[in-house]
Amino acid sequence: MSGLIIDDISMRFELPDGNAVQALKNVSLDIKEGEIMAVLGPSGCGKTTLLNIVAGFLAPTEGNITLGGQVVRGPAAERGMVFQQGALFEWMNVRKNIGFGPRMKNTPKADIDKRVDELLGIVGLQDFGEKMIYELSGGMQQRVALARCLANEPEVILMDEPLGALDALTREKMQGLVLKLWKETGKTIILITHSVEEALLLGERLLVMAPRPGRIHKEYRLPFAEMGVNADLREVKTHPEFGPRREEILSMIWDMEEEIMGRTESAA
Ligand SMILES: Nc1ncnc2c1ncn2[C@@H]1O[C@H](COP(=O)(O)OP(=O)(O)OP(=O)(O)O)[C@@H](O)[C@H]1O
Ligand SMILES: [Mg+2]
Repeated sequence: MSGLIIDDISMRFELPDGNAVQALKNVSLDIKEGEIMAVLGPSGCGKTTLLNIVAGFLAPTEGNITLGGQVVRGPAAERGMVFQQGALFEWMNVRKNIGFGPRMKNTPKADIDKRVDELLGIVGLQDFGEKMIYELSGGMQQRVALARCLANEPEVILMDEPLGALDALTREKMQGLVLKLWKETGKTIILITHSVEEALLLGERLLVMAPRPGRIHKEYRLPFAEMGVNADLREVKTHPEFGPRREEILSMIWDMEEEIMGRTESAA
């Protein structure tokens, strides 16, 4: 079993001018194996910082992360990251991108080929293995990014606005793919998004963070991700609870943004 425990994390960035930013303060979460959690919150509330700490790219100033009882001390294959865009190897074809992690681990070529074929199928890119990255659309590139992450067999998948750069239709398809991957692989997923609808659709847990200092403001448990596994996402959005939840969370975030603007203006 490999639950992810975020235990009282705080992160303070010391700035060169002597000031400091309290990016996170006393954030605690207990995420069970196989949960999918969406994270929303105004710009600067520490979402990326939190994900980078879980990934092991940053060490928190206070607190600990443990995965399956082991303290996280740096990046490792058990925690895979999918970025918004631009993190693929442009000079490699799709197959080579997806097989990169296993190649680094000296996995036998036949095993890599088999695994890459499977992953191409899972993300719907069966016929694109030999293409170069620049030949693919943005949506296809994100499919490659997902497959490359899965190839490392992570226990936890961390996504920082993975669908943020896509057009609306492609985005909708990719949201369906994320739900499918979640159900089929049983992975734990943490997904940051700026879209309230996306967070409602993909987060069986939905975390709303607040800024200055970055902290957990509210948490929801929602039925929509589970519904979306077997239904059209547009249908899920017509569920009687969906609209009111969306409005509630939108105004929550809107109020926070207003407050930040107010503070900035009065400070000027
Ligand atoms: N390396 C760093 N050095 C100094 N300050 C930082 C650093 N990284 C982040 N910060 C500050 O910490 C706060 C949180 O930043 P973070 O990038 O985590 O926010 P975010 O919620 O991901 O925002 P966005 O929605 O815009 O991506 C911000 O005030 C940011 O300026
Ligand atoms: Mg961010």
